[in-house]
Amino acid sequence: MTRRPIIAGNWKMYMLTGPAKELAAALAKQVGRLADRDVVLVPPFTALAAVKEAIAGTNLALGAQNGHAKNEGAFTGEVSMAMLVDAGCRYVVIGHSERRQFFGETNAGCREKIKAAFAAGLTPIYCFGELLAEREAGKTFEVVRRQLEEGLAELDPALAPRLVIAYEPVWAIGTGKTASPAQAQEVHAFIRDWLREHFGAATADALRLQYGGSVKPDNVDELMACPDVDGALVGGASLKADGFARIVQFRS
Ligand code: 13P
Repeated sequence: MTRRPIIAGNWKMYMLTGPAKELAAALAKQVGRLADRDVVLVPPFTALAAVKEAIAGTNLALGAQNGHAKNEGAFTGEVSMAMLVDAGCRYVVIGHSERRQFFGETNAGCREKIKAAFAAGLTPIYCFGELLAEREAGKTFEVVRRQLEEGLAELDPALAPRLVIAYEPVWAIGTGKTASPAQAQEVHAFIRDWLREHFGAATADALRLQYGGSVKPDNVDELMACPDVDGALVGGASLKADGFARIVQFRS
């Protein structure tokens, strides 16, 4: 079973509209015509329109970093999934560790957001991973299992194959400490086994698993060579066109 690779650049809270447009335009030129992989740009909300325009007519896709579980309502400061679709998004990142750490997001909250994203026609990228203390205490699999069980508890099995999961060990995010390919593969294999058990072999074989955490041009090849690593969710290294273009064109 070959899964179509999916590389996403999470720009986090970086990029005003001017530089966002330039970065997106440079990427459109360098990697906008690739047909054998999915490439997703995930700018902040305020730059969605500029990036949408810059990548129009290319194979690059637009994603958002968060979305609310309700369609609409009195939720000041929030953006609904329907609004993201309206802004041109095809993907939405859900449960990023920074959302969990700084904004109190929970597995149960992610579950609602995943349902809402699918209902709106978006592809959710469900993120999770263990903290350094959890890894050092030998609790990685326990934590990941809970993130899967609670986050995906009410997922419609018919939609499950379309979900994207990003395993991002928190200790590897923004630290320059990438998980070794063996560490990434071990957890990805665990996730795929869990998926097989809960959703069956067809879903487990189809669902794409991204690794995230200090992915760079010089380590992407060995990570992508792992049998259960189907893509990458890239933070810092997605902010430079040449580097991200190299990551997108990983060699494995
Ligand atoms: P870095 O690539 O900067 O470590 O960030 C990873 C990440 O959080 C992507 O969502």
